[in-house]
Amino acid sequence: MLTADQTEALFRPTAEARGLPAFAYTCEDFAREERTRLFARTWTCAGYAHEAPEPGDVATRTVAGVPLLFARSRTGEVKCFHNVCSHRGALLVSGAARGRRALRCRYHGWTYDLDGALRATPHWGGHNRPDAEGFDKSRLALKPVRMARWRDWLFVNIDGEAEPFEDYAAPFLARVGEYDLDEVTWRRTLSYEIAGNWKLVAENYLETLHLDFVHTVLAEAAPFEEHAVVADGAALGTIIDVGLPDSWTAGDPLPRWPGIGGDNRTAKNLALFPNFKFVIGPDHCCSMVEFPDGAGVSHQRWDFYFHGEGASAARYEAARDSIVDFYDKTNIEDFEAVEAVHRGHASPAMAGARFNGIWEGGVHHFQKLVAGYMAA
Ligand code: FES
Ligand SMILES: [Fe+2]
Repeated sequence: MLTADQTEALFRPTAEARGLPAFAYTCEDFAREERTRLFARTWTCAGYAHEAPEPGDVATRTVAGVPLLFARSRTGEVKCFHNVCSHRGALLVSGAARGRRALRCRYHGWTYDLDGALRATPHWGGHNRPDAEGFDKSRLALKPVRMARWRDWLFVNIDGEAEPFEDYAAPFLARVGEYDLDEVTWRRTLSYEIAGNWKLVAENYLETLHLDFVHTVLAEAAPFEEHAVVADGAALGTIIDVGLPDSWTAGDPLPRWPGIGGDNRTAKNLALFPNFKFVIGPDHCCSMVEFPDGAGVSHQRWDFYFHGEGASAARYEAARDSIVDFYDKTNIEDFEAVEAVHRGHASPAMAGARFNGIWEGGVHHFQKLVAGYMAA
């Protein structure tokens, strides 16, 4: 996908490097290759436990072009399977469903339990005879997908070959270790469609140099130069210890994460390669996940979480709303920038990004991770 010259230029020290070539952002062939070489081979964020809160609940999502289903079993565990019937390959579940006792294919009625075992094959042995001699249903269970769960977030490794999630995510998990997220409670989801390649959405998140120009309100409370860059294995992002003061939200102050002191104003804007972003402050957190749709469109989903009753009690509503509204406005400012960058990449004059060695080490690191997957 990348020539030896392009790879050599990318892997120079940050200030001398030249970024990924423009076609890595605009070419549909590159985007298709990313599905199998990158997204399927790493730990991609694919779902949310809260989408299937009770036994029998099912959620679906297509990741790297692969249809998946998440089912909450009778014992309360969320499992991931390929969303395809073992008979003749029909999509098994077409959308979210609640309280299912089994998963029944609409084509010829093959029926699976919530653990993926094939239980019924109507008329397989003749009219009204569901069983045929020598037909071994146990070999035709739904195909499981390797999945790891961290709190509400479900990560899949589609090819099954990645290192264990705990090892892969260790540099990320170490940076959120001080927050007790036992009672992290989902509250709201916002969905966006961005006319830009998913990598540009990610890269924009990984530097704060644009704050003064794109986010004037945010930059006042969280000056760009106060952010420290994180670029450590699969963990990326920026951290600021003098972020937004309590007074920036309306209404009653939200409950803080247990163990976080009253003067803690740290905001961590972390990412776990490839598509998981996680902003956490003293009293809320938000995940942002990209789902690419070809080279030029990214679907991004933001989910907001609070501590315990901070997610539900009416007296915190004004505070919750001010957080969600502020993030939403900031996000829209970012999208305009990202879409302009995407359009710029159509130009033959775009010969790979230049990086600032102080502020853009995270963007450079991200591009090197992409190149590493695409080369192998
Ligand atoms: S394809 Fe599902 S039962 Fe035939
Ligand atoms: Fe931004």
